[in-house]
Amino acid sequence: MLVVLRLSVLLALLAPSLPFLQPPAARVPRPPAPLRSSDYDTTSAPVRSLVSSLTSLVNVLSRPPPPPPPSTGPPLPPSAVLAGIRADYVERLYLWTGDIDPDLYSPNCTFTDPTLSFTGLAKFQSNLASLQPLLERFVKDPAVELYSCELAADGRSVAAAWRMRADLNLPWRPAIDLNGTTTFGLLPPKGEGGGRIEDYREVWGMEAGEALLQIVTPGKWRG
Ligand SMILES: *[C@@H]1O[C@H](CO)[C@@H](O)[C@H](O)[C@H]1NC(C)=O
Ligand SMILES: *[C@@H]1O[C@H](CO)[C@@H](O)[C@H](O)[C@H]1NC(C)=O
Repeated sequence: MLVVLRLSVLLALLAPSLPFLQPPAARVPRPPAPLRSSDYDTTSAPVRSLVSSLTSLVNVLSRPPPPPPPSTGPPLPPSAVLAGIRADYVERLYLWTGDIDPDLYSPNCTFTDPTLSFTGLAKFQSNLASLQPLLERFVKDPAVELYSCELAADGRSVAAAWRMRADLNLPWRPAIDLNGTTTFGLLPPKGEGGGRIEDYREVWGMEAGEALLQIVTPGKWRG
């Protein structure tokens, strides 16, 4: 979801100065692509490297404030982590706002989606700090549906299935509609910092390139 947010903001920042990003007179709609899903290993190298260059560019364009230090604390029981993850989805709409409860995460958590993978809660937070003020401006009617969110039988992971939808406040009126699943791998619920999320893995219900193409596809506003 990070990359969807970043690319949206990047295009919004660049749009006024790039003539080819203005609303097109007529563009040929793409034929529907075959339904396939994507994870980090199946996403093509060009899409991944495009994303990582654009990611560095957003970082250059917007200097984030230093993130708060990651929290460690008494072990969290799996039920508390599950409740926290649910609230991140449905109350804080983190897929659109980036607003996660940092206490649910280990400072060493690895974040992976079909386009990028990195380690460190602080990195996740600093990536988002630069975007948050802009997201409020460019994301219109954000919605998150949580289809399911369950603790695994062994208590060591939470699996969530979700849909994120929004219109983007860009001149060509694009909309994002993305289904996905996220697996949150948990540390053993013992000791300082125990029970927290150490592995965050997002898989999308469509190919990464197709998902990102929605950002530049004109005329898809829902409302
Ligand atoms: C995070 O990783 C560092 C270096 O690998 C390690 O020293 C530290 O104990 C880890 N912290 C947690 C909370 O797992
Ligand atoms: C997401 O899943 C819902 C429910 O299965 C479906 O109606 C919708 O069309 C899907 N959206 C996308 C973008 O695949």
